[in-house]
Amino acid sequence: MTIKNIFKASFFHSSNYGEIEFEKNALIFVSENGIIEQVIKNNNPEYKILLEKYSKTEKFYSFGDKILLPGFIDLHIHAPQWPQAGLALDDELSHWLNNFTFPLEVKYENLEFAHEVYTDLVKTLLSNGTTSAMYFGTIHNEATLELAKICAELGQRGFVGKVVMDDKNMNPEFYRDSSTDSAITNTEKFIKDIKTLGKNVPQGIYPVVTPRFVPSCTNKALNELGKLAKKYNTYIQSHCSESDWEHNFVKDRFKKRDTEVLNSFGLLGEKSIMAHCNFINKDDGEIFSKTHSSVCHCPISNSYFANATLPVNYLKNQGVNIGLGTDISGGFSPSLYDNIKHTVISSRMLNDGVNNNLLANERGVKNSKVSIFEAFYLATTGGGIALKLPLGLFKEGYICDFQVIDTQFSSNELKNYLTNEKDNLLQRILYLSSKENIREVWIQGKRVLKK
Ligand code: GUN
Ligand code: FE
Repeated sequence: MTIKNIFKASFFHSSNYGEIEFEKNALIFVSENGIIEQVIKNNNPEYKILLEKYSKTEKFYSFGDKILLPGFIDLHIHAPQWPQAGLALDDELSHWLNNFTFPLEVKYENLEFAHEVYTDLVKTLLSNGTTSAMYFGTIHNEATLELAKICAELGQRGFVGKVVMDDKNMNPEFYRDSSTDSAITNTEKFIKDIKTLGKNVPQGIYPVVTPRFVPSCTNKALNELGKLAKKYNTYIQSHCSESDWEHNFVKDRFKKRDTEVLNSFGLLGEKSIMAHCNFINKDDGEIFSKTHSSVCHCPISNSYFANATLPVNYLKNQGVNIGLGTDISGGFSPSLYDNIKHTVISSRMLNDGVNNNLLANERGVKNSKVSIFEAFYLATTGGGIALKLPLGLFKEGYICDFQVIDTQFSSNELKNYLTNEKDNLLQRILYLSSKENIREVWIQGKRVLKK
């Protein structure tokens, strides 16, 4: 494979949960199709020779003092809800859906509106360092295809789903699939259209089978969607055991837990990503682990709508893979930096508890703390594992997606008053940098954004 670029760069990544690695001025060889072919560390005996050999060639690019982080992976975001980010956050899930969210989502019948909002959103995500995103669209094929086209054009790796919500008893007349059959036919057409579109997109555009959540779908739709996902080997996304209401609603309807129901319809497989999962128990965790399905943790959204905090450590210990999602607009922020921070903060509240009328040792759920480095793993490597793609690491064979951080950028300089320890540097970047510090974004070996 021909080498297109040789980057001299310092980077952080996390191969193992909770552990970080830092390489200073490594040489990263990237092929024409955007794959990392080799990473030469500065202590490699050949380092100097290679540096001399390539540093004067056109392929060479040095990032100087800037720091590379893997591109962040947003595993769960509702693109049509972007105009509502930061709004309507004082509500309960089912009321919020019916009174704010569905009236907004129905507007995407209008393609012009879709184009405007989706372009703004994808640009915003890129400027926040998000290089891959798994999107819920709306029930509309055209508008959701438009979202995929925008990802394709702007260079983002997009995983896009036409939403299915066909149950006439659960969804308002103004916003639902017109019938179960049309929901399935339209999903199949959507899968084919995205596969065709994706053929010419270097970074990849993928269709996602998307039952909104169990309460919004008929049994027949859930069953048919499971079959379609199998037939076309697609990703599957949905919401699972999100809130008290949602979790109990599914239990009442099926006399089974949400995870069991999704599994029984063939919706849990290795390319399934289920958002929230706050109420899943040990048996559900085993189903996730056995089916190699992933959980998407949406910590900000959960603080508003979920009535609970995801027991991240418990699930990790069961072998469940977890990534992070913004869940716009259940979560208000398009930034995975904010979600990394909130993963840590909400885990502290779970660990220590919050009711000061209880004794300290009765207040929390022990061993629930998630560290900032663990949260960084979730936003990068964990997301890559969920997508079953080599993403999130600067390693041979991995896709070359990264963000370039300038810690000395004038409007938000992260001065280093203390030691030069690498751990401190990454913590300061994750806690204190703003999107202004992200100066460039590269996806599949190609620069898609330079500020
Ligand atoms: N459950 C079903 N639909 C939604 C949605 O749009 N947002 C969230 N947070 N939960 C949901
Ligand atoms: Fe969601």
